[in-house]
Amino acid sequence: MNSPELSNDLRRTLPIGIFDSGVGGLTVYRALHNRLPNEHFVYLGDTARVPYGTKSLATVERYAIENSVFLASRGIKLLVVACNTASALALPKIRATIGLDVVGVIGPGARKAVAVSGPQPRIAVIATEATIQSDAYAASIRQACEAAEIIQLACPLFVPLAEENWTDEPETRSIAKRYLKRVVDFAPESLVMGCTHYPILRNVIQKTVGANVKLIDSGEACADEVAALLKEKGLENPREVEGKRRLCDDLDHFYVTDAADRFGRVAERFLGAKPAKLEAIELGEVDSRR
Ligand code: DGL
Repeated sequence: MNSPELSNDLRRTLPIGIFDSGVGGLTVYRALHNRLPNEHFVYLGDTARVPYGTKSLATVERYAIENSVFLASRGIKLLVVACNTASALALPKIRATIGLDVVGVIGPGARKAVAVSGPQPRIAVIATEATIQSDAYAASIRQACEAAEIIQLACPLFVPLAEENWTDEPETRSIAKRYLKRVVDFAPESLVMGCTHYPILRNVIQKTVGANVKLIDSGEACADEVAALLKEKGLENPREVEGKRRLCDDLDHFYVTDAADRFGRVAERFLGAKPAKLEAIELGEVDSRR
């Protein structure tokens, strides 16, 4: 939705938009921020309507379009759909609605899993119920390698555990053991953490499935593909940021649809810093806020 007349010189200086159903996408923001220190970001967490992982296709599509239209209205050069559930269910609709490049997390995570595995890859995917039901990861993995053997399972309790920062509690270890038993039995080469929150529980997941299973963080894989796309399109920001960038510094703008204080607290837990610019908005305000 950027004006087509905008010169590439100007477009390159625009921020990258990121949206998630809530706080989990901060793991994707962190990956993008670390990978692309010259870029700045506009993040929308739809905290009023989280979780998406238990909702229907029609609802997730509607929310995802509203989020995308809001971010496009802020003036961005590219949109990252950090939420796995929205990436799995709504990417085609988003692409058809906004005239911008859109990168989700499913394709990058799937391709990375194939790339780090052998010629007959055995890949496990863990994600929300809606992402697993959509079969989007399996389809993307098979597109990259038809011979792949795949198991997929939902681990819904990992989301609240990550938000509570229960990263190494006995309860978390016992839930991980129960959820991941099928993964251990399947003995995959790689395991895709197909939900924004799961990288927070990386250590407990790794310990449960064993050190020889390669864990794939879809957010990190997405950051690599975003970097490549910006380069290919000549959209890398040419303005070098002076000094060292910090996560959540005032070059990045965060919006939430509810409970900004809680978002700030969880951001501090996830990233070690509270957003310098954090605003609560109502998505109905989309058009008036250009
Ligand atoms: N952000 C969601 C995802 O990556 C997890 C939380 C939710 O269910 O909304 O699928």
